Amino acid sequence: MKPPLLLFIFISVSLEALPISVTGNNVDAYRPTDDIAVDCGSSTSSTVENRNWIGDAANRSDYSPIGKTHSSITTQANISSPRVPGTAPYLTARLSRSEFVYTFHVTAGPKFVRLHFFPSDYPNFRRVDSFFSVEAAGYTLLRSFSASLFADSTPSAGFFSKEFSLNVGEDQILIITFTPTPGNSDAYAFVNGIEVVSMPESLYYNTVVDSTEGIKLPGQLVPYTLDTTKVLEAVKRLNVGGQFVGPAHDTGMYRTWEADDEYVTSSDIGVLPVNISIQLNYGEQVPNYTAPDPVYTTARTMGTDKSINLSYNLTWSVEVETNFYYLVRLHFCEFQIEINEPLDRVFKIFLDSQLVEDHADVISWSGKGVPIYRDFAVALLDHSQKKRTNLSVALGALPDGSTLYSDAILNGLEIFKISDPDGNLVGLNPDLVPNKVPGPPLASKAPSSLSKAVKIAIVAGGTSGFTILSLLAFFLYRRRNRGKDSTSSNGTTWWGPVSYVMTKSTKTQGSSLSSDLCRHFSLAEIRAATNNFDKVFIIGVGGFGNVYKGYVDGGATQVAIKRLNQGSQQGLHEFRTEIEMLSQLRHLHLVSLIGFCEDAGEMILVYDYMARGTLSSHLYNTDNPPLPWKQRLEICIGAAWGLHYLHSGAKHTIIHRDVKTTNILLNEKWVAKVSDFGLSKVGTTSESKTHVSTAVKGTFGYLDPEYYRRQRLTDKSDVYSFGVVLFEVLCARPAVSRMAPMEQISLAEWAQSCCKSGSVEEMVDPHLKGAIALECLNKFCEIAMSCLQDEGAKRPSMNDVVWGLNFALQLQVSTELEAINTSDSDSGGWKSSRETATSTRAGSNDVCDESMTSHD
Ligand SMILES: *[C@@H]1O[C@H](CO)[C@@H](O)[C@H](O)[C@H]1NC(C)=O
Ligand SMILES: *[C@@H]1O[C@H](CO)[C@@H](O)[C@H](O)[C@H]1NC(C)=O
Ligand SMILES: *[C@@H]1O[C@H](CO)[C@@H](O)[C@H](O)[C@H]1NC(C)=O
Ligand SMILES: *[C@@H]1O[C@H](CO)[C@@H](O)[C@H](O)[C@H]1NC(C)=O
Ligand SMILES: *[C@@H]1O[C@H](CO)[C@@H](O)[C@H](O)[C@H]1NC(C)=O
Ligand SMILES: *[C@@H]1O[C@H](CO)[C@@H](O)[C@H](O)[C@H]1NC(C)=O
Ligand SMILES: *[C@@H]1O[C@H](CO)[C@@H](O)[C@H](O)[C@H]1NC(C)=O
Repeated sequence: MKPPLLLFIFISVSLEALPISVTGNNVDAYRPTDDIAVDCGSSTSSTVENRNWIGDAANRSDYSPIGKTHSSITTQANISSPRVPGTAPYLTARLSRSEFVYTFHVTAGPKFVRLHFFPSDYPNFRRVDSFFSVEAAGYTLLRSFSASLFADSTPSAGFFSKEFSLNVGEDQILIITFTPTPGNSDAYAFVNGIEVVSMPESLYYNTVVDSTEGIKLPGQLVPYTLDTTKVLEAVKRLNVGGQFVGPAHDTGMYRTWEADDEYVTSSDIGVLPVNISIQLNYGEQVPNYTAPDPVYTTARTMGTDKSINLSYNLTWSVEVETNFYYLVRLHFCEFQIEINEPLDRVFKIFLDSQLVEDHADVISWSGKGVPIYRDFAVALLDHSQKKRTNLSVALGALPDGSTLYSDAILNGLEIFKISDPDGNLVGLNPDLVPNKVPGPPLASKAPSSLSKAVKIAIVAGGTSGFTILSLLAFFLYRRRNRGKDSTSSNGTTWWGPVSYVMTKSTKTQGSSLSSDLCRHFSLAEIRAATNNFDKVFIIGVGGFGNVYKGYVDGGATQVAIKRLNQGSQQGLHEFRTEIEMLSQLRHLHLVSLIGFCEDAGEMILVYDYMARGTLSSHLYNTDNPPLPWKQRLEICIGAAWGLHYLHSGAKHTIIHRDVKTTNILLNEKWVAKVSDFGLSKVGTTSESKTHVSTAVKGTFGYLDPEYYRRQRLTDKSDVYSFGVVLFEVLCARPAVSRMAPMEQISLAEWAQSCCKSGSVEEMVDPHLKGAIALECLNKFCEIAMSCLQDEGAKRPSMNDVVWGLNFALQLQVSTELEAINTSDSDSGGWKSSRETATSTRAGSNDVCDESMTSHD
């Protein structure tokens, strides 16, 4: 192959340059249902590159904004300024020192919202005083945003636009609100142009790949789901190896595609193959509106020197802000004459230095000349510092034997910032609030302390307006998992053989955290919460370390703090697994992880406080009064719900792998919550052919024999363990009693033989004698037995278990009612058992506090 096309085809992306026209593009591939371009502050309409910009200041304009005080004004840009762009929408502006609102009556569905800004001195509005927030459809797009500081941070852009993608609901009116930042009487909001453009339903949201398997999130087990509640902000959109493609040459959605040259950061910049004659063949998964043709007919590959390819990664770097998730879309299309078959060009893909694809083979993904893309989510979480960082995309060649050509290819790259769970795309750094800006003085004097601070925060970025200045994020995310997963080899869990019992209920801090967000605690906060890990606060001890009771938020919230022993590789792995798992799962019957602390080598997890400790402590610890039967049933039903949610409620089946009574915790209202996800695996259901093959882990006595024999982990392994839990609850006897007679050592075996021989009553917890209705007992044993079936496929699903247990509870309740109604006779045992239940409950309130025990 000739190495011909090099940098001379690259054109500067300075925005003063007009977009050059490109041939062979699929301009008409998509026609947006809503296609609105508002020229703010203009009383006339104008056409730019066949696009009609409608003035919002014309009489009876559909788009005139509503101001709280009707005080927004319209004005023209100073046309003698050298930086003024020549066309709409930048020639006029709408400005106000109070809030104003644009309303758009649009169809439901995902939309692009683009905001155009030309920061400049407008009559009575100094350039440096623009400080404002923009909200749309309830999302915060910009906050305390200074258009002038942003423009100054990008070398060539005197004007710029910011592109957001959001979803408009049925019957929803899209309202975009501009609010000057309060606290500074000079602050004003302004905008030069607003676009609202529909996009195909499955362009970025609901893509085929997302709906089938979720978006791959490097280093993490649970894939990312980009649902329509998220707002995207375009950070970068690159036509890799090609030229600038302007809005008029997009596929109908007016996106801007930059050349990639200045984002290539590897020492070797590769070569730029092109094939303008190829007829692109768009498939169903990647329709022709996905990207303009020039994106797919140009590319960057590794270079001509064969020995060099293997010695470097072809790398692009784009500046982004930490503490957000990012959506990274890589576009591919093979069009070179040499590359025709699978295995011709196979390569590795790294995002943020993490391997996300070890066998990228574009031909086998889609075929020759067939465009394809791959989406990845990247969490750039850095709780210690909120800062800008480079997000890298790196391609690495594979050696001979794995591929015909040791080479790699990329055709296009899109990077989006994803809104945090509060609907924010921007964090606010309080130090940058403009009310600290000194008063009005000289127009030329920028508020120096402020601009300096902001410049430090943003660092000059790329050339186009798509670089983001978003100040800093308030929200702390899970730290990204940088380490290689190490497979732990034994089955100890952190809770270990420990029970812990605590006093008060906790405020539901966890519930204010949304699904993929988890709070970070500093070590100082943890030390304050536990009086510097004072022994007095210890409520549990195990092989993993200690559990402390503590208070955070100035004493408002009681929490359980699990401090893992440092330096254990297994611990680190499980620590991160637990954070990943729990922070993405919220369910009434799962323990809520409130946050974590990873400072100074510490591995600390902070949970909702479970006032009544473990289920096992209420079965075996004689300090606790025995639980009445119905309460045991309710606890089992709750735990079964929690497992059912893990298996089928989350997007992917999650197998707990260590279901046992020490991992079922109880809050002050006796609500059962499944805990300890250190061993969890994302798996598959037993129905599917595949399974998770993995080293056997879990706890002796609860282990699914099939899993043990065949090393096949399915959700039915949890069902087996739950069957053991059920018998434990019935018999108040541990899963393994080493001191028991031979045939009784394993509870599962003993229970099965008792059930088969009809001698179950022998096993039942003596405290429950006479308290269990016979029908209920039979049903309960039937369920527990079915869970213990040797063959996983024959075991019920957790859903079946939930309903079976509910049925058993009904049988118990109706028998008790019957007994009460029919007699005061000497079989009034039901009555007395109810009385026992009540008094037990009351008693336990008093006794449970502060007790802490270990048991086996
Ligand atoms: C894009 O694809 C659609 C549907 O497959 C087709 O109707 C349309 O003509 C195509 N447009 C272009 C420009 O290729
Ligand atoms: C808008 O209407 C007012 C009065 O109805 C009229 O004086 C003014 O000239 C009109 N402006 C434009 C731009 O048409
Ligand atoms: C317009 O810009 C020119 C050049 O920068 C400047 O000299 C002039 O004062 C500006 N006019 C106004 C009204 O700001
Ligand atoms: C472009 O693709 C076509 C079809 O695969 C092929 O025949 C042609 O040789 C390619 N041109 C170049 C320059 O690779
Ligand atoms: C490519 O990048 C990955 C991830 O940063 C790194 O592990 C690998 O060593 C790099 N390969 C080369 C050849 O530099
Ligand atoms: C990102 O990379 C560029 C080019 O290597 C460098 O100039 C810039 O300082 C980096 N930014 C950060 C925040 O590391
Ligand atoms: C290295 O990359 C170039 C350019 O894509 C390719 O032509 C060459 O075959 C690659 N080297 C090897 C050893 O495959």
